[in-house]
Amino acid sequence: MTEVLRQHAEQLYAEELAELARRDERPRPPNWKLSPWAVVTYLLGGRLDNGFEISPKYIGERRLMEIAVATLATDRALLLYGVPGTAKSWVSEHLAAAIAGDSTLLIQGTAGTSEEAMRYGWNYARLLAEGPSPAALVESPLMRGMREGRLVRLEELTRVPADVQDTLITVLSEKTLPVPELNIEVQAAKGFNLIATANNRDKGVNELSSALKRRFNTVVLPLPDSLESEVEIVQQRVASLTRTLELPAEPPALEQIRRVVTVFRELRSGATADGKTRLKSPTGTLSTAEAISVVGHGLALSAHFGDGSLTAADLAAGLLGAVIKDPVQDKVVWQEYLETVVKERDGWNDVYRACREIS
Ligand SMILES: Nc1ncnc2c1ncn2[C@@H]1O[C@H](COP(=O)(O)OP(=O)(O)OP(=O)(O)O)[C@@H](O)[C@H]1O
Ligand SMILES: [Mg+2]
Repeated sequence: MTEVLRQHAEQLYAEELAELARRDERPRPPNWKLSPWAVVTYLLGGRLDNGFEISPKYIGERRLMEIAVATLATDRALLLYGVPGTAKSWVSEHLAAAIAGDSTLLIQGTAGTSEEAMRYGWNYARLLAEGPSPAALVESPLMRGMREGRLVRLEELTRVPADVQDTLITVLSEKTLPVPELNIEVQAAKGFNLIATANNRDKGVNELSSALKRRFNTVVLPLPDSLESEVEIVQQRVASLTRTLELPAEPPALEQIRRVVTVFRELRSGATADGKTRLKSPTGTLSTAEAISVVGHGLALSAHFGDGSLTAADLAAGLLGAVIKDPVQDKVVWQEYLETVVKERDGWNDVYRACREIS
């Protein structure tokens, strides 16, 4: 059997989910695989009574996850909102995995998302041969989720054209999806709900109508509030990444991760960590997700072309790529940061040299 490159959350964490389901004695909403308490435990990690260890998936405030999970137990849909790379898609996948045991009912929102993608389409060969019939109908993930009472995920909701977004209004308020061609409707079974994600960089692309906004409970996922928590996120994700990619590298020294995260946080916030020097911010977002890639890329370099231990030289190329998104503007920002901050910082000599060599 060939191994897949990326497993769904419910496959990757099948053991944890099964153990949680076995131990979970709290009430479960209709058609939920776990109780809300167990879902939050799955997301944030913890130790069960029998000593079984649940790994943390989301690192951040517990209350936010409680609000998200509680929303899904009501008749309102959940909108995860925030800047890029704040784990919106990640949380949405894990929520669906834990609650419905399946994270694959997914609609990717784009400027080209059509009404058919949201509601249903037709198998045209059959439609022409037999006319409209249930067999010629091609269900969207949304319709299937309604029929089976499961969670549906909608990525990048604000990229979807406004008129297509509005098809959701009936679904979310009446919990039904009519098919006029067949004179039928699909009524949502208990357990159905929707998790949408949107990022604020796309704000204004296709703002949510207020009618639709009212049908969502919005949970804003913040950037990690401290250096320590961001370092923890990067460390944890990189560790699992190297496991799946089977990189023959040593786990990166915490010190290297701390440096990458420090650079990201300083440039993002426009000031050095000690607050003494003001900096210009580059045009890119410098999200936690990108910090994870920079460290992951550095590890690949060190595993295949170095001695397996992550050095500043392995990180430099990735750092540069993450910071310089606009070849003119960002280059100036980066040079200034390099010369005024990195060069002067104790113990960062190797970073300075490595970055100078390639810029
Ligand atoms: N607070 C966090 N806890 C755990 N992992 C995090 C956290 N913040 C970011 N990550 C990691 O960042 C990566 C990217 O997250 P994800 O793709 O979900 O971002 P997103 O918010 O959907 O971004 P976009 O708006 O670009 O779609 C994931 O691998 C996730 O593990
Ligand atoms: Mg996303």
